[in-house]
This record gives sequence, structure tokens and C-alpha cells, in this order.
Amino acid sequence: MTNYLNKKIDYLQPDITNTCDELPLWSSAFGLLLLDNFPIGEYSHYLDIGCATGFPLIEIAQRLGNKCTSVGMDPWTEAVKRTATKINTLQLKNISVIEGDASIVPFPNQHFDLITSNLGINNFECPAKVVSECHRVLKQNGSLCLTTNLTGTFTEFYEVYRETLHELGFEKYLASFSEHVNHRGTEASVTELLDKHDFQIKNIVRSTYNMRFLNGSAFLNHSFIVMAFLGSWKNMFDERDKQIFFETFEKNLNAFSKIKGELKLTVPMLYLECVKK
Ligand SMILES: C[S@@+](CC[C@H](N)C(=O)[O-])C[C@H]1O[C@@H](n2cnc3c(N)ncnc32)[C@H](O)[C@@H]1O
Repeated sequence: MTNYLNKKIDYLQPDITNTCDELPLWSSAFGLLLLDNFPIGEYSHYLDIGCATGFPLIEIAQRLGNKCTSVGMDPWTEAVKRTATKINTLQLKNISVIEGDASIVPFPNQHFDLITSNLGINNFECPAKVVSECHRVLKQNGSLCLTTNLTGTFTEFYEVYRETLHELGFEKYLASFSEHVNHRGTEASVTELLDKHDFQIKNIVRSTYNMRFLNGSAFLNHSFIVMAFLGSWKNMFDERDKQIFFETFEKNLNAFSKIKGELKLTVPMLYLECVKK
């Protein structure tokens, strides 16, 4: 019982230092929403889908205690390796991680008490298949807890984007622009998906957070924006139009930021908890 008295975790050790980054800042607001709300119980099996570099897998697994066996899944090879390294370095015995697509979960029916996914559902190629697999591997009355960002993410940014398309006479891009803006789910579309797969909604928590930047230039150059968002914006355009668009757009975004005193972007967040009927 008192094994922890013999544990040594020294933050000055290089391998321990390498575990001190639980999740990207972008995910953190969603992560706190999940940690504040997920149902705690004496579970025997917990699954985290889309655990990337280990969140919330490693955190929730530890909060659930040693009697619960926890497993994470993600198709991202390098992230899975990093998660495995963190688990090993922190000497956590009841957690493992599997590289794989959660539309096929390699576990028997009715195995898990709890499944979580922080910012996963809006990234899955086929969310319906993943939700169906979650239903299969959850025990009766087991919980599936998700967080996601919704349509309305960066609404201020997309308003300037739309105006710039009109200003440049780029109406030909409006259809792909709308498709892009609407690819994020709404509360209604997420609940409908879960309902269709025989889940009963138990709790919904809505929240927002803001991302603040000096101006459009700071935003467009930010490493996370370049890594996670810029690609989908660039891909809307052909090569020539891309250059013209972004020159004008950056100028417009900077002018908008100047008037407002900063570029403050809204991110609507949803926590959704449901149980297997
Ligand atoms: C936005 S990240 C969130 C990562 C992490 N949970 C966090 O909070 O930072 C979404 C993750 O879902 C993973 N993913 C995408 N498709 C998946 C699938 N079919 N099955 C499992 N994970 C998937 C991605 O590789 C990525 O790591």
C-alpha cells in the first residue's frame, strides 16, 4: 500500500524533465473541462482514444488508481512512442498504449467502464465507426466522455476571411470556405451521432476560451497555428490566388486587430458525457 514512500521522481533528471509536458496548450482548456467533469468510480478498465503524447490517458489513469487497467490508442506512431516512454519513465504499471485507429478497438465486447477522448472526435476520419466501436467495447452503463471544439471556433478570424474573399472577388472559394467552417460539429450534430449509436446523454457542459494575439501576423506565424491550422486554409487556394489572398488577409486581420486593440479569438468548447443504453 505504501509503495509510494520508496518512489523517487526527481524533476532534475533529464528523462523526468521530458515527461513534464502533459499536453499541448491548445488541448489544455478542453482537458481541464474533461478532468473537472468525467465520472470517477472504482473501474477495472479505462480506454482513452486519440491519446497522442499521453493526455488524458496518463492523468486519468493515475487519478483512477492502481486497480484500474488503462490503455490509450492513437494511430500517430511518434506520439505513441513518446507516451510509452513517459509511462515507462514514470514507472506506471497499470497503463499501456497501442498504436492504432479506434475504428477497430482490439478488445472484447463490454470490456471498458470508461472511455474518454479529448479533442478526438473532430479529428477522426470516420467518427461514426469510432463511436460504434466505443459502444461495442463499453460495459452496459459504461461512460463515454468527449470534449470537442465546435462550429464557431475562431469566428472573428473567419469573418475577416469571408470579407477578404469578397473584397478580392474570390467568390469561387466561398463553397470550400463554408465547407471548411462547417466541418466542425455542432452540439446538435454530436448528440445526434451518439444518440444514433444507442448512447444516452448524461451531461453536457458548454464553455468557451479565448486565444489572444497582438495581431494577425503574430497569429499566422504562431508555431501551433502553422502546424495545426494553416494547411487547411492554404489548401483552399490555387498557388497564385493563395499569395494574393494571404497578403490582403493578413493586412485586413492586422487592421481589425488594431481597431480592437488585439486579436481575440473565441473557441467554443463542449464536454459531453453519455452512457451505453
Ligand atoms: C487534437 S489531437 C488530441 C490529442 C490529445 N488527446 C490531447 O488532448 O492533446 C487528436 C488526436 O486524435 C488522433 N486520431 C485521429 N484519428 C484517430 C483514430 N481514428 N483513432 C484514434 N485516434 C485518432 C490523432 O492522431 C491525434 O493524436
